[in-house]
Amino acid sequence: MEKTWEELKAAAWQELSQDKYLVYYDEQPIGTVAACDREKAALNYDQCFIRDFIPVGLLFLIKGNLTITRPQGEENKVDGQEIVRNFLKETLRLHQQARSKTFTGLILMPASFKVQSENGHQHLEGDFGDRAIARVTPVDSSLWWIILLRAYGKATGSNILAYQEDFQECIRLILELCFSDRFDREPTLLVPDGACMIDRRMGLYGHFLEIQALFFTALRASLELLPDNQANQKIRKAVLDRLPALQDYIRHDYWLDMRRLNDVYRFKVEQYGTEALNKFNIYSDSIPYDWLTEWLKEGGGYFAGNIGPSQLDCRFFTLGNLVAVVSGLTTPEQSQKMMKLIDQQWKTLIGQMPMKICYPPLKGRDWELLTGHDPKNKQWSYHNSGNWPVLTWLLAAAALKTGRQDLLERLELDMVKAGNILLAESWPEYYDGEFGRLTGREARKFQTWTIAGFLLAQELMDNLSCLELVSFDD
Ligand code: GLC
Repeated sequence: MEKTWEELKAAAWQELSQDKYLVYYDEQPIGTVAACDREKAALNYDQCFIRDFIPVGLLFLIKGNLTITRPQGEENKVDGQEIVRNFLKETLRLHQQARSKTFTGLILMPASFKVQSENGHQHLEGDFGDRAIARVTPVDSSLWWIILLRAYGKATGSNILAYQEDFQECIRLILELCFSDRFDREPTLLVPDGACMIDRRMGLYGHFLEIQALFFTALRASLELLPDNQANQKIRKAVLDRLPALQDYIRHDYWLDMRRLNDVYRFKVEQYGTEALNKFNIYSDSIPYDWLTEWLKEGGGYFAGNIGPSQLDCRFFTLGNLVAVVSGLTTPEQSQKMMKLIDQQWKTLIGQMPMKICYPPLKGRDWELLTGHDPKNKQWSYHNSGNWPVLTWLLAAAALKTGRQDLLERLELDMVKAGNILLAESWPEYYDGEFGRLTGREARKFQTWTIAGFLLAQELMDNLSCLELVSFDD
């Protein structure tokens, strides 16, 4: 028989409260593994990923006291907030160690870390992209780390941890790295392909939306975490200069709705100078009008995936768009239009399993060239338009932020159906197919952020006040 909302919540908590998901270091829980699938090779899924820990950490902050079930069945009481504090401290320490090995002292947070044991001694080993498949750079990790640190302060009611000198220094160094001079003049961050949740080649090189939305959120969080004192003066000024520039730029240049599309359709090209309307020299023929004019209906709109010289990537990327709503990067009007688009495209974006990571998929020659023939990212699969249950929490957060009660009700009904599937299929990492009806071909089972993302959506929907952990005023 189908489980109800409450039964699903209880079942998800029961699963996530098992000791096997926790990573222990010096006998202290400091994070969670990416997945507990014993049937597939672990690769790096036995590591604690910073981005994967975000929904888990938020959930632990909300829940507070956790009862963890040990392998033999005995129960252990753990403080969820303490796990998040341990996580923040240990990742900070990894950052400090890695810093000392660089020339400038500037380095990103690792994508993931693992506890290694040698001769009875434990140490943590971070993966800063130096071990990752295809050696991708985890730009999002540092940004998420700052966002989680702010959430920790909100949940505990104090920024004492963030105000410690080592934390202050770490925030400043991360921001310095983001602000450092590069061969690029935009207020956005220039990053390589695969620098975020989509950690494989997918044609994201440049100024990919997800990174810009996280950058914006991390900048806003930093202003709350860095008190206005002598040591922070320079960096606060840099943040205050960058924030409005970044915000205006994204709101204007990334925005796509029917009106904007009509402008792009009739763009004049080869314009020179500061007054150029077609700043990036977009050739209208590069725009995929065939699907876009059908997909983008009146009243809907979203941020494009990427913008660069003669490039406007019109794919819809879920994480970047939803983070933009939650963090106030969109104007209130843009937020409403974005939620309207999700409403209009519910079937394609939500399907049977919330929610598509992007839409539409790369196909044919585009797939060959942009992914490098990556079989894992065939169309409608994995990062190339697969459905990722972890994204449900961001959808819930965005619907709550915009007051779309009707969407929340719809989501609740769909989540009951989806939750029953997830439970029966042991919480897979992702789903494939146009409407997310196939269990991801390579998906791990017992994927931690699948369980946590789903539960976090439930917790947010059941208790609106939790939204303040991640949201910002418009
Ligand atoms: C995959 C995902 C990445 C995630 C990792 C661990 O590589 O693309 O976003 O962090 O698995 O779950």
